[in-house]
Amino acid sequence: MTVNRDFRSFFKTDPGLTHLNNAGLSPINIEAEAVVHYWVERYRREGMFCDAAYLEGVDKARGQLASFLGATPGSIAFFQSTANAVSQIAFHLNLKAGEEVIMWDQEYGSHLYPWQEACKRTGADLTLVESDPMMATPITKLLEKVTARTRVIAVSWVQFQTGAISDLKALSAFAKSRGIWTVVDTFQGMGVLPFNFQDLDIDAVVGGSHKWMTSPVGVGYLCIKEERARQLIPHNVGAYTFGTCEDPTDLACTPKRDALRFEAGSKQVLEIIALGASAELIQRCKVESIQKTALGLAQELADGLRNLGFTITASNGELQKSPIVNFSPSTKSSIKTAEEIVEALVRNKISYARRGPGIRLAPHAHNQIADIQRVLEVLNR
Ligand SMILES: Cc1ncc(COP(=O)(O)O)c(C=O)c1O
Repeated sequence: MTVNRDFRSFFKTDPGLTHLNNAGLSPINIEAEAVVHYWVERYRREGMFCDAAYLEGVDKARGQLASFLGATPGSIAFFQSTANAVSQIAFHLNLKAGEEVIMWDQEYGSHLYPWQEACKRTGADLTLVESDPMMATPITKLLEKVTARTRVIAVSWVQFQTGAISDLKALSAFAKSRGIWTVVDTFQGMGVLPFNFQDLDIDAVVGGSHKWMTSPVGVGYLCIKEERARQLIPHNVGAYTFGTCEDPTDLACTPKRDALRFEAGSKQVLEIIALGASAELIQRCKVESIQKTALGLAQELADGLRNLGFTITASNGELQKSPIVNFSPSTKSSIKTAEEIVEALVRNKISYARRGPGIRLAPHAHNQIADIQRVLEVLNR
């Protein structure tokens, strides 16, 4: 029985490595590892004899992810990446010339480029709203840009460079009454901040496996309201698009009605099943408790870095509201350049990313206070 085990106890990383790029690629949890081993072994031993069972495994994973997101299994489609999930919406909601898509000026490429390209191909306009100082993303500023031509608002819940948060409740309340599509990239929040698709009333969210969800890289997903799913035609079409007949060569099959119509063919079963197990683990450990631990570590880190004279890009104000910490050298810090910081982190095997104005560190609940102390020690010259 694992119900009361601490999230941290599901990680077994190599000694000597400090994992603080969880907004990039987190170590995976041991339950995800176990289900991958289990299915690899069944494939080896049973081949075709486990065909039906692995499909049931995918169904189970869809159910686990749906329960975790607060959505129905039929609203979830698995893809290989977030970019694929965004593309399914951007290229197939039938954007028209003169319509408008609104985004922040700091969205990640897998979210930005599909919209940019879809606008280019259709003649729709892409409006990139300038972020506030410290790369903050106050939703009121973005909503002020909405016009009668706005068809879609597409934003990240948590921004990848600084952890700046967009208020999704305010977004959906505003957009719903106007019939504007709301599409949210949740990759940088899902798994470490509480989320509920039904409560938020966003039209569609996208995300993936390998950051805060602590699962193997290789799955993107779309979670979409079923009525919105029916408004999109599938980007990829194959045997699995159809739902009404047993015969895959029947020319009269009609497409499935739910989000499963977007999964054209065979899937990356191992990674999907692992994502289901990871979602279940996080739900069992309680995301609120994971959030508390991760934010506590991020706050310790930000406070410690400030004490060393570094500048924190405080997009969310002084209190960390997401566990992403972006910091830069200042005249007060003894380390004067980003290159020197990077050199110290690399030499001491501390994972990090160079993002936006500085260096991004992103503690998860599997980290320990010793990891934070290690960074502060290494940067205290
Ligand atoms: C906000 C955000 N969205 C999406 C991704 C990943 O996109 P993809 O799954 O297409 O590689 C990342 C990071 O890699 C990200 O930070």
